Amino acid sequence: MPKFYITTSIPYVNGPPHIGHALEFVQADAIARWRRAQGDDVFFLTGTDEHGAKIARAAEAAGSDTRTFVDESSQHFRNLVKQLSITPDNMIRTSDKEHHWPGAVEMWKRITERGDMYKGVYKGLYCVGHEAFVTEKDLKDGICEDHGKAPEYIEEENYFFHLSEYAEEVKRQIEEGYLEIIPHTRANEVLAFLSAGVEDISFSRPAKDIPWGIPVPGDSSNTMYVWCDALSNYVSALGFGTSSDERMGTYWPCDIHLVGKDIARFHAVIWPAMLLSAGLPLPKKIFVHGHIHSGGRKMSKTLGNIIDPFSLIKTYGAEAVRYVLLGHVPLFSDADLTPDRIHELYTAHLANGVGNLLSRVSAMCLQYFDGHITRPADVLLASVPFKLDIDVLDARDRDLKVGSVTPEWFIHEKTIPRYQAAWEEYRLDSALQEVMQLFRQLDRYVQDYEPFKLIKTDREQAQAILWSLVSSLHHACRLLPFFLPETALAIAEVLGVPLNETDEIMHKRTVYTITKKEPLFPRVEK
Ligand code: MSP
Repeated sequence: MPKFYITTSIPYVNGPPHIGHALEFVQADAIARWRRAQGDDVFFLTGTDEHGAKIARAAEAAGSDTRTFVDESSQHFRNLVKQLSITPDNMIRTSDKEHHWPGAVEMWKRITERGDMYKGVYKGLYCVGHEAFVTEKDLKDGICEDHGKAPEYIEEENYFFHLSEYAEEVKRQIEEGYLEIIPHTRANEVLAFLSAGVEDISFSRPAKDIPWGIPVPGDSSNTMYVWCDALSNYVSALGFGTSSDERMGTYWPCDIHLVGKDIARFHAVIWPAMLLSAGLPLPKKIFVHGHIHSGGRKMSKTLGNIIDPFSLIKTYGAEAVRYVLLGHVPLFSDADLTPDRIHELYTAHLANGVGNLLSRVSAMCLQYFDGHITRPADVLLASVPFKLDIDVLDARDRDLKVGSVTPEWFIHEKTIPRYQAAWEEYRLDSALQEVMQLFRQLDRYVQDYEPFKLIKTDREQAQAILWSLVSSLHHACRLLPFFLPETALAIAEVLGVPLNETDEIMHKRTVYTITKKEPLFPRVEK
């Protein structure tokens, strides 16, 4: 069985989870679910980043001791993961001394043994918001634009990691395709950064200033730099540095690190250099997702445009949140979401779309056929073709097929191949939109033939239409579980079918027994 290891980045717990965190969770979850369905032995890791100055200060501001603060705060992330039906195999916490620390310590020791760690004096700027050492060229008029603050000037004795030693090798691995950074525009940015010359990087902070973190092995006067500590989570979670590290052998190297564009450099430069120094293989791919903006602006407390995933879940349900994030935020680009847009998508695509379609179709099956829909003869099925919207066909099919294809033809010739092609490139939004397109065509099918009228004049044809609708919904629900697991299950329940049945059994099916269910997506007032 091929293995497949996928990770998200681990969010800082200095504040509550926001929609950007939810985005990364659901994207990785959809991919993990998809790979499991392809038969891979998947290990899906997520977690929380709980050290560093930013978190220590947030705890202080909350008047709480840091341990209590991170325990409570990381629980919010766990709740979000649970509410969104995310299916990680492990959720690591960097403040976990038993499960994370040994891996981070082992990384540090290996890098030291390789001769790549030395003591030096760091004089320069540190942006607490980024938890990163910055230079003038990262700033605008002396201000970090992302955090709206001037970085702090520090002058302190630190351990340095010999990053410059590895810049060439990391560059070569990216150029030769051993380490793939996707999309390629992000790879080019990283390559340009590497070509401009990379300096060694400070890898610790004085413990007297930053006590909250992992002490440097053998020198407790220093605390590990939070990124060195955090990046190690990808191996510590597999037991690296402990006696039970079998999972390292099974799952490392990682297949996909999924991270946001702001932290691509840490993952594409520092992390590979650390791994090379520690004698470990590099990850295969780094997927760099875009950011969600709101109303054309970055989300921020000051602008008051932060979208809270919990309140969205409360209003629209977790499946709707998954739908918006997976169907309307392309994996590799930025997207804009506002409360109005989310409401509109929910109402048009879910409440009035798939939810209404399922209710109508199941109600007709129950009312006219007592819920039992049997497969009609093929000639009858062909007598009620799909009158497709012209734009859903490929140019070469237009003359030939409009008005003369069955829903079955459309699903096998269009929906499924396009869906598969989208998955091959991890265009999650396109794959999901293929299913939504099918729902729209089925909706149109109901409008075109009006089976609720036809039942009075031609019962056989009405049954053929309902069969096409029900069997198409069956196909559609099999394409959904990676995106909308609960919805897929609910549709399968209404159709009286198991979600995991084989294609062969499905194609031989001659009857559906429909049951009633509450509306999937009840209308929500604005
Ligand atoms: N703790 C580090 C990551 C360490 S990984 C070894 C960190 N945390 S974070 O909380 O600031 O960000 C976590 C993830 O959320 C990052 O991938 C980041 O890009 C992503 N997002 C932050 N804001 C976002 C949006 N507005 N939209 C989408 N993703 C966003 O960085």
